[in-house]
Amino acid sequence: YKRLQAIEDRWPDAVREDRPTRRVSPDLAGDLPEVTHLTPMLSLDNSYDAEDLLEFDRQVRKLTGIADGPVEYAVEPKYDGGTITLVYEDDRLLRSATRGDGVRGEEITHNARTIRALPLQAAFSRYGIRRAELRGEAIIRKDTFHQVNARREEEDLPLFANPRNAATGGLRVKDPRDAASRGLEAFIYQLGFAEGDGGADMLPRFPTHREALETLEALGFRTPREERAERIVCPDIHAVVRFCEEWAEKRDSYPYEIDGMVIKVNRRDLQDRCGYTSHHPRWAIAYKFKARQATSRLLAVEYQVGKVGSITPVAKIEPVPLAGVTVSSVSLHNEDFIRGKDIRLGDRVLVERAGDVIPYIVKPLAELRDGSEQEIRFPTECPVCHSPLFREPDEAAWRCVNSGCEAQTLQRIIFHASKDAMDIEGLGRSTVERFFELGWVRSIADIYRLDYAAISELEGFGPKSAENLRLAIEKAKGNPIHRLLHSLSIHHLGKKAARLLAAELAYVPDLAEWSEERFLGIKDIGPVVAKNVMAFFGNPMNVAMLLEMEGLGVNLRQTEEDKPRALPTDGPFSGKTILFTGTLVRMGRKEAQELAEKAGARNLGAVSANLDILVVGASAGSKLKKAQELGTVEILTEDEFLNRIA
Ligand code: IVH
Repeated sequence: YKRLQAIEDRWPDAVREDRPTRRVSPDLAGDLPEVTHLTPMLSLDNSYDAEDLLEFDRQVRKLTGIADGPVEYAVEPKYDGGTITLVYEDDRLLRSATRGDGVRGEEITHNARTIRALPLQAAFSRYGIRRAELRGEAIIRKDTFHQVNARREEEDLPLFANPRNAATGGLRVKDPRDAASRGLEAFIYQLGFAEGDGGADMLPRFPTHREALETLEALGFRTPREERAERIVCPDIHAVVRFCEEWAEKRDSYPYEIDGMVIKVNRRDLQDRCGYTSHHPRWAIAYKFKARQATSRLLAVEYQVGKVGSITPVAKIEPVPLAGVTVSSVSLHNEDFIRGKDIRLGDRVLVERAGDVIPYIVKPLAELRDGSEQEIRFPTECPVCHSPLFREPDEAAWRCVNSGCEAQTLQRIIFHASKDAMDIEGLGRSTVERFFELGWVRSIADIYRLDYAAISELEGFGPKSAENLRLAIEKAKGNPIHRLLHSLSIHHLGKKAARLLAAELAYVPDLAEWSEERFLGIKDIGPVVAKNVMAFFGNPMNVAMLLEMEGLGVNLRQTEEDKPRALPTDGPFSGKTILFTGTLVRMGRKEAQELAEKAGARNLGAVSANLDILVVGASAGSKLKKAQELGTVEILTEDEFLNRIA
């Protein structure tokens, strides 16, 4: 790698587009485009014990007509990360996508390129393959995950709950440097599609799953390895059961999170005979490991106050090791959860980490009670400000009604600065907590009048980080108002609703004058959002705070980003309406629609007399027929569409 870098420095003309030293490409803007998979990505049926596996084997033998001979199965770990697909064309990585809904996924090529385990080039042509689609799992080693989180903690960034979230999130980030910093790896476990010249199906060249994986291994992919006992081909289902049970024992010592094993009929011709349901192949099944459980004792219940005042009960339990971590604190969600399970103080409780994610109380062990256990009395007042609690008929949470409650205020300030809201880098939870304790930020507005000289004197800060914080806050002041609206922690006002409001709003304080009808006149804004926004703006203190923020430089006026996107009037398709149908091969549906908009066209959802252009992909059906019948619609192929844009 180093030598290649040196060569490239010396002979820049020889540098190739797909060089591994340039795995990181610059920032992408906008949401991720969609792509259609070459073949649908089905999921797997689940099995939980030996009996289920024997039943699966009976089914397979019935479907294949092998009544009494054994069937050979390939078995490998079920990696618990983020599913990816990779398309290689002419020996190069063309694109990568997430699983999405199985038919279409999100394009993540920019991030896949940062994964060193994925070759940017692979000699598929050696096997007569011009185009191939591979499936695999992007995953982060458990130890890498801990390092990544430790680093994030230092940088005051939110922590990932588990390696899977870090991986799936990492696949979808816009900035590939962010993906690269998470140490993503990838295992390839399936050759889903292989086409030779003239569209010939090349899959039959690999008569077994094992041979397909061996070929992928030879091409430089990281697959589950037979020599490391990650993968095995079993002569019959009994050997499968043994292998699965062995793995259930040793999963904790494996460096990657796995949540089970996958069993696949090894021979392709038999796979074909088994076929598919609409959800899963009949020739494969997942064997799910049992969730890891432990028992502990419920010592106390604490109550946390959220940003809109919701009270969350949290069980403090005797610390107990569970799936590699020590658990001492478990959410009890809400009062109904406690009542429904009849959980009492002092109870022995069964704790589980389902999918090895967040610990969960399965149930109290009522048979072990000795009479000393006590009912949990849900508080009637806020544990912090002592205001009465109140519960809306259709909500699960009790809420503190005092919007001035100190605990709520702190959570709101934390949320305001967070990535999802105003995105102020360097002002994460722990920094806000510190400033709050010092009395420096007691309201959202205080963020915009911090004393940077004082901050630079703080332990762990210094002039440089104080200056960086100042710059980040200055930047946030200019945020579009959809971010600002979302950052105010108005109950039920999510990101999407904030965008819808911002599109219709010239100046944020104007919302104080809006009637309910005005809100409901916006498509997708319902009465609940309307009510909560009206309540927020009906409180003069809130409006005063916004005006105060404006005085400190925070933008309250609609920005270009807030406005619904205007279509260019001078594009090749300006003034036209367009619709895409069939399977697009050169681009995803969403990507195509975006291109069309950039070229001035408005996307329609159906064929009608209003439609000007229909772009047809492979296997277009009724829409094409209808457009032809109308006779007024211009029909373009995907390539013609792209040529016109070019
Ligand atoms: S095979 C048609 N093999 O499990 C065959 N899937 O529900 C489909 N997964 O999210 C999948 N490890 O990403 C297969 N060794 C493995 C796997 C595996 C993990 C995931 C896959 C998908 C889910 C299937």
